[in-house]
Amino acid sequence: MNTPASSTERTVRIQIDGAPMDVPRGSTIAAALGTGTARRSVSGRPRAPLCGMGVCHECRVQVDGVQQLACMTPCAEGQVVDTRPARLRAVPTTEACDPSCDLLVVGAGPAGLQAALAAAPSGMRITLLDDNPAPGGQVWRSGPRHAMPSPVRRLLDELAHFSNVTLVTGAKVVGLAGERALLIETQAQSGVQHFSQAILCTGARELLLPFPGWTLPGVTGAGGLQALIKQGLDVRGQRIVIAGTGPLLLAAAATARRAGATVLHVAEQASWASVARFSTALWRWPAKAWQAATLLDPGFRPGSMVTAAHGQERLQAVTLRTGDRERRVDCERLACGFGLVPQAQLAQLLGCVLDAHGAIVVDAAQQTSIAGIYAAGECTGIGGSERAQLQGRIAGRCATGVAVTPPLLRKLAHWSRFAALVHARFSLSEAVTRLANADTLICRCEDVTLQELAGCENWVQAKLHTRCGMGSCQGRICGQAARTLWGWTPAAPRQPSDPARIATLAQEPHDLHTRHTRPAAPLSQ
Ligand SMILES: Cc1cc2nc3c(=O)[nH]c(=O)nc-3n(C[C@H](O)[C@H](O)[C@H](O)COP(=O)(O)OP(=O)(O)OC[C@H]3O[C@@H](n4cnc5c(N)ncnc54)[C@H](O)[C@@H]3O)c2cc1C
Ligand code: FES
Repeated sequence: MNTPASSTERTVRIQIDGAPMDVPRGSTIAAALGTGTARRSVSGRPRAPLCGMGVCHECRVQVDGVQQLACMTPCAEGQVVDTRPARLRAVPTTEACDPSCDLLVVGAGPAGLQAALAAAPSGMRITLLDDNPAPGGQVWRSGPRHAMPSPVRRLLDELAHFSNVTLVTGAKVVGLAGERALLIETQAQSGVQHFSQAILCTGARELLLPFPGWTLPGVTGAGGLQALIKQGLDVRGQRIVIAGTGPLLLAAAATARRAGATVLHVAEQASWASVARFSTALWRWPAKAWQAATLLDPGFRPGSMVTAAHGQERLQAVTLRTGDRERRVDCERLACGFGLVPQAQLAQLLGCVLDAHGAIVVDAAQQTSIAGIYAAGECTGIGGSERAQLQGRIAGRCATGVAVTPPLLRKLAHWSRFAALVHARFSLSEAVTRLANADTLICRCEDVTLQELAGCENWVQAKLHTRCGMGSCQGRICGQAARTLWGWTPAAPRQPSDPARIATLAQEPHDLHTRHTRPAAPLSQ
């Protein structure tokens, strides 16, 4: 779908800390914040959006007196945004609505959209739910200057033929509400969704590793930067360094360049030899070979990494290491991502078994260890959007009793081999796990330094002695960092799996027949 020029040009007026600001319609508040600070940490240090996808909670602000994540909240005319502590307002609770569905699909990314479409002919009442303002997940994210990608449009057009499918956007599953019932929260309301079967398509988040200066405003994830740009972040004229590992770095660089930024370096920690072996194996996946060729960036440097970020109130420069040589590079932004990790908290809450990498274990029918609960896409292991879509199709079919065809399984095996290639060629070197020094914050929510964690032998000790992982992101960032740095297993999530409002948590079992009323978006939106 091409967004009409008139709508991309239109702006809305919001107020940030009392100052009026006109922003393109469809931007998120995180994008509107631009280079500004979103909040102060517990020790008063400035913080700004990091992940761009609702995980890190660094972007929490007050919107019309209600605490929201700026990266998940679209700007609306007249909104009053406050980044300073403010008096919060109570949020209305539930209104009557459809109480239940036969099949709940959580996540409307490539896996979830395909799962819903594959299940749709069964006639089951299907609810497809996502916490983003629009469907598409991470790879197919749209925004004010990024029209909805054609694969999403096509899938939505196909889904629009099925009146038994309801798409609900802007709604997050924040916990359990009983047997086969989940707590849902939107920006304005909350409620409970019943289901008979579910397909979890909750995707992945970035692995973000600590290094000196990584909490400075201006430092984001690599995919995080991409997400924020698609949400409307203005990076025109900014100098950007991209660092970390994996194909996502080049995708982020391309998005930043197209948005008018100058990409100075793309520092890939994998060696030249590893990148060369990856490239020469790509002939088996011609579309990927073509994509790699089109994304290749003049600043791409394997065997290099950013070892520190510098600045006071925001980023001003980074230290770039290539081999034994280090140099300082002035820049306005650093986007740093070390690969992806599965988002499996909801599956864990439901009791599904995870593997040693934190991915949901599924069988050949994409069924988890719990009967009637299926999972598809990157929450079952990192493997790219092609694999996620195939898994979604298999899960949708199997959940509705339709057999999986051998060609579908062959295609899945083909893309699983691609996933294995990426893992093998972009595995993390030990050097990137040793960048943090004694004063580097490991837990960004509770301001816990590496030094304070010295002497802790596992995650439980770290939590008990330092409050590491007990802040707003609930250990999603520091827990995964600790797993990578020291091999600690993060604790299983507790109820609720995400910070939730009191009104949401106050839902009683007898409220199970009420639900939030975020309008079920027309499938042809
Ligand atoms: C920040 C980021 C940027 C990326 N950019 C690219 C790219 O440019 N190119 C590329 O090839 N790959 C990219 N990827 C990889 C990408 O994740 C996959 O290739 C693909 O999107 C996986 O599809 P999926 O359906 O498994 O998950 P996703 O696309 O991640 O979809 C999962 C959806 O579930 C939603 N969700 C999760 N938990 C809940 C919950 N509790 N309640 C409600 N909704 C929930 C999420 O918000 C998301 O919309 C990116 C990944 C990340 C993390
Ligand atoms: S930037 Fe909004 S939650 Fe991370």
